[in-house]
Amino acid sequence: MQYEKRVLHVAASCGRQCPKEEKVKAIAKKEGWLTNVPSFTDVLQAWVSPLKTAIEENVDIMKSVVEQKWRGIALKDFGEAKGKGVIATMPFSKGDVICDYHGKLLSEPEGKKRMEALEEGAMCYLFFFKGRFGTKLCLDAQTFPCECHPAKDTFGRRMNHSSKAFNVKPVVFRLNLPDGAKDSVLFLATRDIAVNDELCWDYGVRRASFKGEGMDLEWLDD
Ligand SMILES: C[S@@+](CC[C@H](N)C(=O)[O-])C[C@H]1O[C@@H](n2cnc3c(N)ncnc32)[C@H](O)[C@@H]1O
Ligand SMILES: [Zn+2]
Repeated sequence: MQYEKRVLHVAASCGRQCPKEEKVKAIAKKEGWLTNVPSFTDVLQAWVSPLKTAIEENVDIMKSVVEQKWRGIALKDFGEAKGKGVIATMPFSKGDVICDYHGKLLSEPEGKKRMEALEEGAMCYLFFFKGRFGTKLCLDAQTFPCECHPAKDTFGRRMNHSSKAFNVKPVVFRLNLPDGAKDSVLFLATRDIAVNDELCWDYGVRRASFKGEGMDLEWLDD
């Protein structure tokens, strides 16, 4: 509780200026904090840029998240090697919000338990990330369909990986959803996207990431 409050306090003290490490340290020193000293990365995560605020307050985005209805994208079956994926059905510009990673919000240990229970070789639909206050969380899209949209496939979970030609990236937001503020992940375009382009993000892992166990997953390095 105290840590969260301190992170928020430091982030708010930075105003519209993106926090700098020296500034974060200076504020903590001035406050005389010796324990629960906010880390720079947590303050950076908690700091809300004017751009982030615009997205978090956008009613159309909120509606899309709640209803799981996203414009301009469709599922496509790429065949056995890759499975399903997501393509653009309208052009997007760099910075546009494409869709969210929809799933049930779990704690990191709950997510890890879920991952350990997966059968070998099964596709993984768990997204691990750090929330606004530095809390380690997991979005579970493995449990499918989700309780809230039992008749829907959702897009975020179907996006494939590309380390070299990704065109979207996941960004953490805190959305004021009808059931309260919630750490959420939205995919933003990293460049202009044309109709029929596949939407891919960099999963952040490579073949060598799994102590030799992922060496057969050639697609991870593409
Ligand atoms: C989050 S799912 C993505 C959607 C998945 N293709 C599907 O059909 O549901 C992740 C899985 O998709 C497959 N995948 C993702 N990116 C790939 C790529 N570039 N090439 C081949 N398979 C890929 C892998 O099997 C991976 O475990
Ligand atoms: Zn749902």
